Amino acid sequence: MDLLLVKNLTKIYQGKVPYKALHNINLCLEQGEFVGIMGPSGSGKTTLLNVISTIDAPTSGDVFINGNNPYSLKKNDIAHFRRRELGFVFQHFNLLETLTVAENIVLPLTLEGTPLAEMEQRLQEAARKLGIEGILQKRTYEISGGQMQRTAIARAIIHKPQLLLADEPTGNLDSKSSRDVMETLEQLNSCDQTTMMMVTHDALAASYCNRVVFIKDGQLYNEIHRGTSRQAFFQEIIDMLSLLGGTTHDLSTARL
Ligand SMILES: Nc1ncnc2c1ncn2[C@@H]1O[C@H](COP(=O)(O)OP(=O)(O)OP(=O)(O)O)[C@@H](O)[C@H]1O
Ligand SMILES: [Mg+2]
Repeated sequence: MDLLLVKNLTKIYQGKVPYKALHNINLCLEQGEFVGIMGPSGSGKTTLLNVISTIDAPTSGDVFINGNNPYSLKKNDIAHFRRRELGFVFQHFNLLETLTVAENIVLPLTLEGTPLAEMEQRLQEAARKLGIEGILQKRTYEISGGQMQRTAIARAIIHKPQLLLADEPTGNLDSKSSRDVMETLEQLNSCDQTTMMMVTHDALAASYCNRVVFIKDGQLYNEIHRGTSRQAFFQEIIDMLSLLGGTTHDLSTARL
């Protein structure tokens, strides 16, 4: 069963000069798949993520998440759907500085009015998965970048979303923290069967995915599947990126 189905998706930004950021995208993710999205800067990756995450409506085409079209819902129901079914991880963590790590993690449950006892139990479970049990009472300015991203991931999975969406989750991390975060995501994906879609410029991060889809100029360019070896997949990704022709910025962030 497809957890995510994107059909003939087109997105035109209506500015002074209308700009077609996505052109006729078709994509499906099976339940439990971990898919990377790569492509040059400006190719439409964040736009795609925003349309899937119901942040920004498509110009034409459809999005189905677990068989439901969120855009057919009423505005309030969309917000509720997003909070219940989706989890988000961003490059800039988006944690609230005035809250502790624990308070940040349970925020989605607070918004849903989850009972306190259940909140506490879910918090402990998420913190254990992410290996951050020891920092729950700290403020976000007292922890490292890698710990911030693990906190953000804990927050994103605390309500057991159907689909976890990540935009450059390792974009602000050094290579050691990047590896840690990717290993954690890989583990969450294989243990919980959470379906994940991750935009990244980082070939190393992408090599943790089951499949990487490449976008160029708002269109699907190609996709490659991981075999048994992550190292071999990493090399295939690097080769595809050079075929795709990125900017030097894109290549310089590909870590070895
Ligand atoms: N709100 C907007 N209004 C008009 N054009 C936009 C808007 N947002 C993005 N664009 C344009 O759409 C195209 C795709 O942008 P998008 O942010 O999806 O790229 P991206 O692949 O995520 O790039 P990056 O790797 O730099 O994050 C770009 O040319 C961008 O300038
Ligand atoms: Mg982007």
